[in-house]
Amino acid sequence: MFCLGRYTYVYIICTALILKFKFIMNSQTSILFDSFEFKNGIKTRNKLVMTPMTTWASNDDYTISDDEIKHYEARSGNLGLVITGCTRVMANGIGFTNEYASYDDSFLPGLKKLAVAAKKGGAHAILQIYHAGNKAPVDLLTDGIPVSASAVPLAPSAFYPGGTVSHELSHEEILEIIKAFGETTHRAIRAGFDGVELHGAHGFLLQNFFSPFYNQRTDQWGGSEEKRMKFALEVIKEVKDVISRYATKPFLLGFRISPEEQEGYSVKDTFHFIDKLIDAGIDYLHISLGDLLHQKPVDAQNAEDTILKLMLAQVDKRIPVIAAGKIKQADDAVEALKSGLSMVAIGHALIINPNWVELIEKGVKADEVLSLSKANELAIPKKLQAFIKVAKGFFEVTE
Ligand SMILES: Cc1cc2nc3c(=O)[nH]c(=O)nc-3n(C[C@H](O)[C@H](O)[C@H](O)COP(=O)(O)O)c2cc1C
Repeated sequence: MFCLGRYTYVYIICTALILKFKFIMNSQTSILFDSFEFKNGIKTRNKLVMTPMTTWASNDDYTISDDEIKHYEARSGNLGLVITGCTRVMANGIGFTNEYASYDDSFLPGLKKLAVAAKKGGAHAILQIYHAGNKAPVDLLTDGIPVSASAVPLAPSAFYPGGTVSHELSHEEILEIIKAFGETTHRAIRAGFDGVELHGAHGFLLQNFFSPFYNQRTDQWGGSEEKRMKFALEVIKEVKDVISRYATKPFLLGFRISPEEQEGYSVKDTFHFIDKLIDAGIDYLHISLGDLLHQKPVDAQNAEDTILKLMLAQVDKRIPVIAAGKIKQADDAVEALKSGLSMVAIGHALIINPNWVELIEKGVKADEVLSLSKANELAIPKKLQAFIKVAKGFFEVTE
């Protein structure tokens, strides 16, 4: 018989326990690392998505900066899908300072670099395209006047003082914007992206038209619910047409939605819209939430169902659904997928931990507080650092 010392036994038992723990962790998180296949054949290597995040860090001529490229390269390594921060399809659609642009061909070389950076580690890359509508900051516009569905003053909110009155778009101007969405999609195809996501959330132009508060029109672009949906549906039609004409390989079309709007619509009001978006042929729906696992509708705080559950029931597996909102650790992401999501999107946690996917794969807890002194080694662009320092509460930070 072997005669092992007491410490050897302790060592063997501890090693066995660690291995068992790792096995349990891996079997629990393995759901995150299964691949996901879209109907058009695009197959991602796992179900983890970089949620779209503006960096406020383009060059001053709005071309992609080296800092932004490094930011994407540092984070895209192990993900299944990278959705870029939003980029405007027209000059007057700007929503943020130093927001990289895509509204004419002079931006194409930068877009190509961005696609390469986002795909470098094997992820598929989606360009998020939009028009900021009534949220365009007046000091960033050449004529100082934002455009929107109607001339309704912007309501104040966390990042907006409110009060700005937009120019109500004419029928011809609306058609021009729809065309611009198509042209930027063509640029995304030429740049090497695997798809575009229409940013229909966060109160920007696509949402302005759907909102009964901001859309007070009485022509074909407003009035009834049906007419308030028309702008989004026409944009989808145009983008799909461009994809069918120019894409030489499968190319995704996603739509991001805010499930409720304080001044305008409730979660239930979006149900018919979701049906229409699906019928129009989008490849996936992306839901923007503050807290994916727990958030309940503003008008049904005491009800049992979360917004996510309600939206998933409405979609009823007709198309894939992605959502983001406070996913910080592996367990959160697993719970999100088990609730029925197709893929789960990560934001803050990826900025704080560029190697988030690697950490959770190893069963290591990710940081939840951003250490500002480490911002450079975390490849956070200088201009984004400056924004984080002034935008109190945007991140939980330490020095
Ligand atoms: C720095 C930063 C920039 C963002 N920019 C965008 C954007 O360009 N487009 C968008 O749809 N959402 C944007 N968001 C929202 C995120 O996509 C996401 O919905 C939100 O941060 C919640 O996810 P999280 O809790 O994992 O961060 C941004 C969020 C952050 C933190």
